[in-house]
Amino acid sequence: MEPAVGKHSFLRNVLVRLLLFGVFIVIIRFAYVITITGESCNVGDFCFFSSPEAINVAVTGSSAGALAVRSSAEVTTPEHHASKDWINGVRFYSSVFQDFIAGGYLSPAAKSLCVDTPIGMEVFALKEIGVVDAVGISKKALKPLVKSGEGHQIPFGNNTFDFVFSGNGGLERSVKPSEFVSEIARTLKPEGFAAFHVKARDSYSFNSFVDLFKFCCKVVKFNDIQGFDDSLMPEIREIIVKKIGYRNIDSDSVTDLNRDKKCSVAGYKRESVKNAEPLIEEEPLKPWITLKKNVKNIKYLSSMVDISFKNRYVYVDVGARSYGSSIGSWFKKQYPKQNKTFDVYAIEADKTFHQEYVMKKGVTLLPYAAWVRNESLVFEINNDPGDKNKEKIGRGMGRIRSLESQGGDGGGGVEKIQGFDFADWLKNTVTMNDFVVMKMDVEGTEFDLIPRLFETGAICLVDEIFLECHYNRWQRCCPGERSPKYEKTYDQCLQLFNSLRQSGVLVHQWF
Ligand SMILES: *[C@@H]1O[C@H](CO)[C@@H](O)[C@H](O)[C@H]1NC(C)=O
Ligand SMILES: *[C@@H]1O[C@H](CO)[C@@H](O)[C@H](O)[C@H]1NC(C)=O
Ligand SMILES: *[C@@H]1O[C@H](CO)[C@@H](O)[C@H](O)[C@H]1NC(C)=O
Repeated sequence: MEPAVGKHSFLRNVLVRLLLFGVFIVIIRFAYVITITGESCNVGDFCFFSSPEAINVAVTGSSAGALAVRSSAEVTTPEHHASKDWINGVRFYSSVFQDFIAGGYLSPAAKSLCVDTPIGMEVFALKEIGVVDAVGISKKALKPLVKSGEGHQIPFGNNTFDFVFSGNGGLERSVKPSEFVSEIARTLKPEGFAAFHVKARDSYSFNSFVDLFKFCCKVVKFNDIQGFDDSLMPEIREIIVKKIGYRNIDSDSVTDLNRDKKCSVAGYKRESVKNAEPLIEEEPLKPWITLKKNVKNIKYLSSMVDISFKNRYVYVDVGARSYGSSIGSWFKKQYPKQNKTFDVYAIEADKTFHQEYVMKKGVTLLPYAAWVRNESLVFEINNDPGDKNKEKIGRGMGRIRSLESQGGDGGGGVEKIQGFDFADWLKNTVTMNDFVVMKMDVEGTEFDLIPRLFETGAICLVDEIFLECHYNRWQRCCPGERSPKYEKTYDQCLQLFNSLRQSGVLVHQWF
């Protein structure tokens, strides 16, 4: 019986070796797939995550079971995969993506991209539920799930993905939301879907979001869900858009404005007017106190709504005078900016103020007078005796008048300046997707400029106005005397404010 025993153990030996070899092959293949090809498992690859058993366990088994199965994969993945956050995150996104599949926005065959996913939770979750052709991008690459890339610069070709996901408020945190959106639109296939998790809980930010996508996509679904991490985003608005093709939004909005010049302010902007501080109906007896104090009552737009999802943030100071008079002392310090960086335009015709703007970063000086056409103007240099404040800051800039209407050189105390078509400039400088705040203090010219903004439709580009209205007000110096400088009355000012608010423009009384 010796040979038989020998044959027996020989067979066993061979079997053990075969088995070991097989295990070796599997490990090598697995390591190859995970570390080299990593993100994409094609048919024929031995892809651990795409094997039907793994899907079944993940989908039907208890979550604990699914995670236990996954532990064998953690040999090659970073240690944070075992952390509670990772487990909660993957569980959360798996459920989110399964809902997308159920809704028809995502399919297991979809080529998918997750934007801004530092540790690849979303990619992992996609693969878990069977969407195997998934890849993530983040500032820093993290093999095997995450490649290097950012939302505003996606390292893939045009029309690559069936599905793009941007979670965790990535879009609203982006400093270049417009580029972020256009990159997603570019890399998404026609008819592809992109899904976003953002805050966007008020109608202002939601509509801003929708506007950002107008050029390429339409919103097909949105709903509010609970986040998985209380400290980060406890409440999430989930928005799904579908790519329907390109439209040139810039030329579109301009032609819209030019076609029917009487634009109407969007409904969602009107809502903020209802919540604004009331106007001062009674003419103040001490306007230099009342109007100044009123600044404390102002309800800033950016304290009422979420201003995320705007392309650019712009502050236009019309009649800026010195840098410190309102840009430095008020806008920079007090206007609530929600951490956004604003481009500042200072419009000031008076030469005495120009020099200090040379050194100011992020501030563009337009050394002209805001006017209703391009033409030369004259303006009076005057010092309002009733306004000490203005004297301190510098000489008060006087009223401006068209050179023709002046007739002759007008004598002393008059300076020639260049006026420009302010409404036209505004239409060429900002778009509907920008957040535009304006302060206007133009010594009575507001009665020309505001109607012109309406006529041209440029008014619809402005989100919030701080307007000083100039009228024959009671003077500090001389009790019982009205300022001789201006002809308009307080009632006419009130009418101007009311007409703005009735048109849906959020205007505040400035001093
Ligand atoms: C990709 O799409 C962008 C935006 O639509 C376009 O400007 C660009 O020319 C396209 N590139 C290629 C290689 O087709
Ligand atoms: C602005 O940024 C600071 C610090 O980065 C943060 O604590 C704060 O919550 C942010 N504010 C808003 C309105 O986003
Ligand atoms: C006014 O002048 C500016 C600058 O020269 C120019 O770009 C703009 O087109 C002019 N506007 C009108 C209405 O002529």
